[in-house]
Amino acid sequence: MKKAKIDSAVLEAEDASAYRPGGTERSIAELEAATHKLTLRRIRDMLPGKIETRRLVLRAPIRGDVPELVRNANNKNVSSKLARMPHPYTGADAVAFIELFSQRADERPYAITLDGKFIGIVGLSFYEGRAPELGYWLGEPFWGRGIATEAGRALIDAAHKIPLVETIAARALPDNLASIKVLEKLGFHRAGSKAKPKKSAANIPALFELQRPRWM
Ligand SMILES: CC(C)(COP(=O)(O)OP(=O)(O)OC[C@H]1O[C@@H](n2cnc3c(N)ncnc32)[C@H](O)[C@@H]1OP(=O)(O)O)[C@@H](O)C(=O)NCCC(=O)NCCS
Repeated sequence: MKKAKIDSAVLEAEDASAYRPGGTERSIAELEAATHKLTLRRIRDMLPGKIETRRLVLRAPIRGDVPELVRNANNKNVSSKLARMPHPYTGADAVAFIELFSQRADERPYAITLDGKFIGIVGLSFYEGRAPELGYWLGEPFWGRGIATEAGRALIDAAHKIPLVETIAARALPDNLASIKVLEKLGFHRAGSKAKPKKSAANIPALFELQRPRWM
C-alpha cells in the first residue's frame, strides 16, 4: 500500500472507532475508572505517614527494613496464612515489596516497629467498588503479645477518621484461629451474617467486615 493510502486507512479506522456506537459509554467507563483510582489514591494519601501506639510505631517500610523483613517473612508459618507472600522469601522479594508494592496507589502498608525494630506489617488494600481490606502479619517471635490487635486497632482508628471509609473488610482462612481472634477483638464480624458461620472450605478465606462506629 502507498503511504497516502495507508494514512487514509488509518484515518478511517480512527474515525470509525471515534463514532462507533458505545464509544461514549466506553469513555464514561474510562472516566469513572480514572476517578475511582484518584479516589483510592486520595484515601490512601489521607492516612497518616506515622501512627504511634502504646508500644509501637507504624511507619512506611524503608530499605533499611530489608534484613528484618526477610528474617521475619521467610517462615512458612507466616507465609502459609497469607495469599500474597512468596516462600522462600528473599532479599529481592523484600526490595520489591518496599520499592514497588508499597508505592502503589491501591496499597498502604505500614511497617510495625517495636523499640525501633521492624517486626511485621499491617496495611490496607484498596479495591474498586468494595471496602478497603485490612491485612497484617508479624514475625513469629512476636506472636501472642497483643501486637497485631494493637497495630490493627490503630490503623482502623486512623482509617475511620477519613469520611470516605465506611466499612473495612478483612479475610482469614477458617483455620487461622489467631487471626480470627484478632479480628473479633477489633470488632469485625463475618460478612453477611452475625450468626455462627457455616463450615467453609479450609483453603477459602472467610470475609469479615467492620462498620464505622456511629459516634465517629
Ligand atoms: C495472626 C497474627 C498476626 C496474630 O498476631 P498476635 O500479635 O499474636 O495477635 P494478638 O496477640 O493480638 O491476638 C491473638 C489472639 O489469638 C489467640 N490465639 C493464638 N493462637 C490461637 C489458636 N491456635 N487458637 C485460638 N486462639 C489463638 C491468642 O490467645 C490471642 O487472643 P487473646 O488476646 O484473647 O489471648 C500472627 O499470628 C501472624 O502473623 N500469623 C501469620 C500471618 C497471619 O496469619 N496473618 C493474618 C492473615 S488473615
